Amino acid sequence: MSNNKRRILVTSALPYANGPLHLGHLVEYIQTDIWARYQRLTGQECYYVCADDAHGTPIMLRAEDDGITPEELIARMGREHRADFADFLIAFDNYHSTHSPENRHYSELIYRRLNANGHISRRTIKQAFDPEKGIFLPDRFIKGQCPRCAALDQYGDNCEVCGSTYSPTDLINPISVVSGAAPVERESEHFFFRLKDFQDMLKDWTGGEHLQPEVKNKLQEWFDVGLQDWDISRDAPYFGFEIPDAPDKYFYVWLDAPIGYMASFRNLCDRSGIMFDEFWDPDAETELYHFIGKDILYFHALFWPAMLDGAGFRKPSAVFAHGFLTVNGNKMSKSRGTFITARTYLDQLNPEYLRYYFAAKLNNRVEDLDLNLEDFVQRVNSDLVGKVVNIASRCAGFITKRFDGLLAAEMHDAHLYREFVAAGAGVARCYENREYSRGMREIMALADQANQYIADQKPWEIARRGGAETLLHQVCTTGLNLFRILVTYLSPVIPATAQRVETFLGCGIINPGGWNAIQQPLANHRIKPYEHLLRRVEASQTDAMIEASRKTGAIADRTGPLAADPVAATISIDDFNKVDLRIARITEAQRVEGADKLLKLSLDLGGENRTVFAGIKSAYPPDELVGRYTVVVANLAPRKMRFGVSQGMVLAAGPGGQDLWLLSPDPGAQPGMRVR
Ligand code: 2FM
Ligand code: ZN
Repeated sequence: MSNNKRRILVTSALPYANGPLHLGHLVEYIQTDIWARYQRLTGQECYYVCADDAHGTPIMLRAEDDGITPEELIARMGREHRADFADFLIAFDNYHSTHSPENRHYSELIYRRLNANGHISRRTIKQAFDPEKGIFLPDRFIKGQCPRCAALDQYGDNCEVCGSTYSPTDLINPISVVSGAAPVERESEHFFFRLKDFQDMLKDWTGGEHLQPEVKNKLQEWFDVGLQDWDISRDAPYFGFEIPDAPDKYFYVWLDAPIGYMASFRNLCDRSGIMFDEFWDPDAETELYHFIGKDILYFHALFWPAMLDGAGFRKPSAVFAHGFLTVNGNKMSKSRGTFITARTYLDQLNPEYLRYYFAAKLNNRVEDLDLNLEDFVQRVNSDLVGKVVNIASRCAGFITKRFDGLLAAEMHDAHLYREFVAAGAGVARCYENREYSRGMREIMALADQANQYIADQKPWEIARRGGAETLLHQVCTTGLNLFRILVTYLSPVIPATAQRVETFLGCGIINPGGWNAIQQPLANHRIKPYEHLLRRVEASQTDAMIEASRKTGAIADRTGPLAADPVAATISIDDFNKVDLRIARITEAQRVEGADKLLKLSLDLGGENRTVFAGIKSAYPPDELVGRYTVVVANLAPRKMRFGVSQGMVLAAGPGGQDLWLLSPDPGAQPGMRVR
């Protein structure tokens, strides 16, 4: 390997801050993390940054729905995302947010430069407007009948029944998903990025080595259709950054999202002394890579390079797109329990199983990837546990018991060891080229060889025979040295296991540059007694995961995509006892100015008065509620909402809207009584 360190900045797409991460997201973060870890392992300077994508209408509306500010929502989602990533061993150098001062700075800077260079135009357009809610509606927030096949309940951009695409104004009987009102057309001035100005540059750039071959073909289609101006503004109210010198106009979320890559890196630079410009100047000699899903190619292969070019920054070295995840051969589905969140997986299973399984299936093409759960169990057990970990457990006992934990000065088969070292070049190529599945096959072929070696040498028989201590010592030393190489090769994929092996073997593995350390075998070297490294995965664990996903999915389906609060598969009686349920009498019920769904309730809990905001406005006229008895969660932490503090929660059944039924006790129950 050359001594010249490569200097690399790598990113994954920024997840939206309005929902939990699921296994589909993780394909990309695991793919990128393996690549970044591999680069560091071979001694390159490699930074991996990401951020929450925090702006846009869905986030604004979701926060409103939850009765919190968008800032509170994105703070909460940010915490959840970070915890999920950490638990999946995704080693970001920085995880930031697009709702950050750095991102505001670069969004404004890029916009101002594009504007100064004549790449922004303005014109007035007509758009669907929700007259009740007072907002312009994104296509996905309008539903109606397909203009082509008349299918009911189709989104404003395309029909899931006949596949045709259209604009929301073409829908028959359109309604706003937000309020149920019929949208009206309204005019407003919008700002456009003139993509066509970059046609020549883009043809040139996309024709180079920056994209996968199959992506280039797709791009050709887009060029053939013709590059269109891109609408980069949205009207207030909008959660995002206001456009400079344009009151009440905001940057469209997709304008500031990729700039979030820069912002996250800037934030890292400011804390660490890395020179930002060396990674973003137009003549930068460093490398910049974006890992993305195939659905957001247009943004990354056209808009983003054009924005960078027009604003005087460098363009990406390459954009790597991957396909979508299917589970057991089908699109992830909530009702089937295959829409699996990161957390639901982690509740049951070790993250390294999934990291390995994805690695074993990923290649560098834009192909979908299937998580087949039977295959998953089988593959993890046979490869990681059966082939790799097994080598250590077969050799370590002898070293500990017979040789006081000390490896021999020489190996019995130094030739095999050198073969394993030499095979590293091929494995490295696979990582570098994102041919992970091939890389895993090559590593497992080596593992087969190592197991064959042990099977041939039969250390247990040498031990039983007696009188050949040196041979036994050297055979086991060979086995453990081969094991060390295998774990080094696998360490970008299973870093936590690699770390346990570091402790066991008493040598560094996942250090920067650790890939080269295997040139030198461990000899005369003390190891620790073997301890369990990786447990087998049981089908009962994947079953439990599906069952838990089905339960959460069923609730999410009934209450809509914005209300998917996870429910535990089971809770203990102690958990249940923590919930203080009380009978309450509703003494007052009022509408809340500015809230579509809430009523403000005053409750009598037997001498104690509480104020609770409840989302039951569509189901009950306030007057009907006064005097009614219901059940309240009395020890719920008080929640600060835009309209005041809610001191508990009343219980109701049903999917929401008009279909809600408040719980009531039988006559005789008194305010303040505990409900059990
Ligand atoms: O598609 C998405 O989930 C977007 N939040 C990805 C943004 S990637 C980048 F451009 F910021
Ligand atoms: Zn249709």
